[in-house]
Amino acid sequence: MRFPTRSTSSMTARSAKTDNHSLTLKLDLRRQLLAPFSAAHPLRVLDCCAGHGRLWAALRGEFPVASYLAFDLQRRPGALRCDSARWLHDVPLTATVVDIDTYGEPWRHYFALLSASWPQPDMLIFLTLGRGLGNMGAVSAESLAAAGIPPKWSPLMPRASDVLRDLLNTACLSLCHAHGAQVVQSLRAKPHDAATLYFGLWLRKDLS
Ligand SMILES: C[S@@+](CC[C@H](N)C(=O)[O-])C[C@H]1O[C@@H](n2cnc3c(N)ncnc32)[C@H](O)[C@@H]1O
Repeated sequence: MRFPTRSTSSMTARSAKTDNHSLTLKLDLRRQLLAPFSAAHPLRVLDCCAGHGRLWAALRGEFPVASYLAFDLQRRPGALRCDSARWLHDVPLTATVVDIDTYGEPWRHYFALLSASWPQPDMLIFLTLGRGLGNMGAVSAESLAAAGIPPKWSPLMPRASDVLRDLLNTACLSLCHAHGAQVVQSLRAKPHDAATLYFGLWLRKDLS
């Protein structure tokens, strides 16, 4: 099973290895979903991995953002210093747009978000899927669990192949269905670095 995502040719095009290229891809992906979403829903943004805030500094100038709250593990101007995955887990959610632009895997955030009670049925989520940091690309316990693979198998696959990684990513993304959320629209973009993927998901939960 593949998670239903659309990639446009401009989004999969390869080009020079520059940060700007990644920034442009990330911004374009966000713009393509924010345009229709903002026509029907307020934009209350949680920027879970704000870093230097470049993405939302640009997007806040283009879209009617009603509220913006930023987090980072490191001390960053304009951001609360905390683990935003724990925030999503512990604090009642009022956001309608959640941006998880981490370096590693976004699954702790994503799963906490799926389990949370949502303020409205529609939620826009942006995810960056990296290789993981400290473990040099080892398969995470979270993604194995999502695919129903026993954690004890983890040492057997310290460096996942692209096929396995695709399968695990699909298993993780698809957990939205188990939480009663359907995909309204989704986009995927792939920068020059094939190890990284960007996703935008517009999900709708049945809150009844
Ligand atoms: C790729 S950078 C983000 C760039 C940013 N979106 C921008 O627009 O400039 C990733 C950031 O995520 C932060 N981060 C990673 N995991 C986090 C977590 N669990 N909670 C908060 N911040 C986190 C890192 O400290 C780092 O600054």
